Amino acid sequence: MSSSQAMGVYKLKVAAGKDLTAGTYNNIFIVLVGVNGESGKHQLPRQWNNYLPGSVAVIDINVEKDLGELLLVRVSMEPYLNFPLDAWFCQYVSVTCPSGQINQFPFYQWISKFMTVEIPEGKGIILSENIHLAIEQQRKVELEQTRENHKWRVYAKGVPHCIDVADDEVQHLPPNDQFSLLKESSFGFNTLTIELETKLRGFTCKTDSWQNIQDIKKVSSLHRSQISDLVCEIWKEDQFFGSQYLNGLNPILIKKCFRIPKKFPVNEQMVAPSVGASTNLEKELQNGHIFLADYKILDKVPANNSINGNQQYLAAPMCLLWKNQDQLVPIAIQLSQTPGDDAPIFLPSDSEFDWLLAKIWVRNSDLQVHEIDTHLLRTHLLPEVFSVATIRQLPMAHPVYKLLMPHLRFTLETNTLLRKQVIGPKGFFDQAFAVGNGGIPILMKKAMDGLTYSSLCLPDNIESRGMETIPNYFYRDDGMKIWLAMESFVSNIVNYYYSSDEMVSQDPELQAWVAEIFKEGFLEYKTSEIPSSLESIGSLIKYLTMVIFTCSAQHAAVNSGQFDFYSWMPNGPTSMKCPPPTAKGVTTMPDILKALPDVNTTATGIATVWLLSKEPQDRLRSSSLQKPLGDYTNVRFTEKTPQHLIKEFQDKLAKISKSTQERNMAVRLPYPYLDPTCIENSVSV
Ligand code: FE2
Repeated sequence: MSSSQAMGVYKLKVAAGKDLTAGTYNNIFIVLVGVNGESGKHQLPRQWNNYLPGSVAVIDINVEKDLGELLLVRVSMEPYLNFPLDAWFCQYVSVTCPSGQINQFPFYQWISKFMTVEIPEGKGIILSENIHLAIEQQRKVELEQTRENHKWRVYAKGVPHCIDVADDEVQHLPPNDQFSLLKESSFGFNTLTIELETKLRGFTCKTDSWQNIQDIKKVSSLHRSQISDLVCEIWKEDQFFGSQYLNGLNPILIKKCFRIPKKFPVNEQMVAPSVGASTNLEKELQNGHIFLADYKILDKVPANNSINGNQQYLAAPMCLLWKNQDQLVPIAIQLSQTPGDDAPIFLPSDSEFDWLLAKIWVRNSDLQVHEIDTHLLRTHLLPEVFSVATIRQLPMAHPVYKLLMPHLRFTLETNTLLRKQVIGPKGFFDQAFAVGNGGIPILMKKAMDGLTYSSLCLPDNIESRGMETIPNYFYRDDGMKIWLAMESFVSNIVNYYYSSDEMVSQDPELQAWVAEIFKEGFLEYKTSEIPSSLESIGSLIKYLTMVIFTCSAQHAAVNSGQFDFYSWMPNGPTSMKCPPPTAKGVTTMPDILKALPDVNTTATGIATVWLLSKEPQDRLRSSSLQKPLGDYTNVRFTEKTPQHLIKEFQDKLAKISKSTQERNMAVRLPYPYLDPTCIENSVSV
């Protein structure tokens, strides 16, 4: 073949990111690498427009020889005159070969230094013996770099490890982990805090107790939602109290009770007025109608002692509930793990204020466990572990990387901000929550005992708690639809790339990833039963479904309703100023007001839950940053089959959304948190 015949024109499209800061003034060079060799180094044209946000530079490259199948493009950023370094976000490079064949090179990352990166062709590739040397080399170099930038750090002894960045140095996160390179959303996070502080200013200096329960409305109604208004109306109802175990913020704590525990000596006589003459406790236990919420995890956790200079109090209560027809209602509460004369069992037949205060104490305990275990540990710290392990162990051409990245977006920055502003010393929890900065690591470490693989997999979680058939459990019903849709999507993707169990067990990158999560996230606790390796296609499907579900739906279920349920403070007091009552018949309304948080503590608590549950579009102030579940706008999978599978998954989610919305029209208290259109694709708040 003569050189003139072999010479060809490769047509390139290079797309910059859509964010305002995504362009660069620096020089960009590009080299094509194919199985037959490399092109020369070509500079992209210096027309400024080409590097504006969202712009696509189109250039032709003449190559003297046929490069054969294209493997990767090498992109480098170099200084232009004395212009300063100016980070550039590259979405993708697309190359049309002389043959007409089109190759996509997805990147979706910042190039933030004068450096060279190699972007592999978009096909998902699993490391094997017949992989091209250039690709093997690219993967090695890529992982060396990401491991250099993403190191582990011990956040607190006995809890999952986190990214090695100081909590007040969010700007030191690698650029690809920052909300649009810090230009937009963390700004939003801070602006929001300032805005809230301004609104709450009148309240934040008042360090005394509320004088009247209705006055609390003044602060809780600074922001309102349909559900928060309803909660304020019905918060004293036993039915509403019970329903929160199913469709509130902590829907994974309650368990079916087969036998009354010794430490909670409830007897027939106590519950007779609740269950009526037609049945009794023993029968209802046998019928599977009795449930238990046990907060033993809070036992001996030290309470915050620095809210307005005062010691706060924590209880470790137990609450027995009864399924009455379609409703779940509380029938007995003991505020201590140790029975005795100073730990009376409170009953609905007690005086109004005895019963109300007992329920308020349970709500306070539920809030601490919800925030630290259910929310922060399980749906913030774990997703961070998944995130760091994925970045460190899986190269961008790995199909599991492509599958997971959309579900790990911004989690590292979110948690870095949380560690400082929310749970750090003098953070919101220290200012307003019974479990302050000192108690958080202690409670979290205790919560690690319950952090099992089965508790993270929704079907197993529901089954192990005996909650399969209880009616009106929307968290379970909506969650299962999403879990199954996710599992089917993941299964199709996994089966497309892995043709045998051996391919799974012999994928060294995948195995290193699973092992790292076991080590850094679950601290090699064998009791967690979390796999340390994966031996089959089936086990990989389950594992990946668990990761995606945790980072999206599970976080939404325990995060999005925080303002709805807690902004009416008596339904979710962040702290209690008096010890739990030890006798019956003495509590008055003034006693309850005295035990509830002070005015300023209430304001800070409401600010915290508002900040944490704020809808992303408001918080981030830019619609391009909001990504609902199933959004894969960044085209990392370039083959037709996975693209088709994504579409199928999105169609399923749309159907689920429709049925959830229809159901919500028909109920008094809607459950919108697991409507797929309301679920964020990743933990970013
Ligand atoms: Fe959250």
